[in-house]
Amino acid sequence: MKKKSLIIVLVGVMLAAVWVTASWAQPEKIVLDNSEAFKHKKRSPVTFPHELHCDSLECLDCHHRYEKGENVLDEDSLEEGNADIRCASCHTWEAKVQLRSAFHLMCTGCHTKNVKKGAKTGPRTCGGCHVITK
Ligand code: HEC
Ligand code: HEC
Ligand code: HEC
Ligand code: HEC
Repeated sequence: MKKKSLIIVLVGVMLAAVWVTASWAQPEKIVLDNSEAFKHKKRSPVTFPHELHCDSLECLDCHHRYEKGENVLDEDSLEEGNADIRCASCHTWEAKVQLRSAFHLMCTGCHTKNVKKGAKTGPRTCGGCHVITK
């Protein structure tokens, strides 16, 4: 093999590795069940199709860490098991935006906005997210 084509192959392998790592880094589905933060949970946990949302959105559309109003979150910190990226780690009872509002503003907020735009969207009714299974 010529040197040049070897380099092209190597670059291809590296890009594939990066791609695989990136798609591993984010979970397919997440069951949102912050029962420790919500002391007396009234609603059922919400199954959030995380990967589906990643198809059309950027990580930083949802994940954030604000400094002077700018989202300065380092994407490399978006790893499974990193407690700091969990919504509940910042949206506490003391926060300006408490946890329940944080979820509803983000989730229902976008779904409602998309309906108005006539775009693809997700559930907006309580039972659409807090599915009741009996
Ligand atoms: C539509 C909003 C949204 C988008 C887009 C999004 N995420 Fe998430 N992600 C969430 C929510 C909500 C959680 C759950 C956080 C929690 O448990 O408090 C989460 C959780 C995670 C977790 C798991 C953290 C843990 O508990 O272990 C990882 C890793 C992650 N996201 C990575 C990514 C990456 C990488 C991208 C971009 C490819 C991305 N996310 C795009 C909303 C989003
Ligand atoms: C590192 C801390 C941190 C993490 C983690 C975090 N947030 Fe935030 N979030 C903030 C801060 C700070 C603000 C700005 C408002 C404020 O001062 O409380 C904010 C604002 C918001 C807003 C805008 C509220 C409005 O006024 O419209 C929403 C919605 C939101 N966060 C949802 C989430 C969700 C959902 C998650 C988990 C995927 C999350 N946040 C993770 C710190 C955080
Ligand atoms: C920035 C926009 C945006 C945000 C934020 C967002 N969604 Fe969605 N959601 C969508 C869109 C767009 C779809 C439709 C995707 C499709 O059908 O391809 C969707 C679809 C869904 C679906 C239906 C999936 C299916 O299989 O039909 C659920 C459930 C859902 N979202 C839950 C959530 C939850 C829970 C959150 C907050 C943690 C959230 N979404 C945040 C845009 C958003
Ligand atoms: C787009 C999805 C979505 C919709 C629609 C939605 N929620 Fe939620 N809601 C969530 C998520 C995600 C949480 C966080 C759950 C967790 O982490 O335990 C939450 C949390 C809550 C909580 C706090 C936890 C608890 O169980 O006590 C209540 C109460 C709640 N929702 C009630 C409602 C009601 C009432 C409606 C209809 C008006 C509604 N929700 C619509 C996604 C949604």
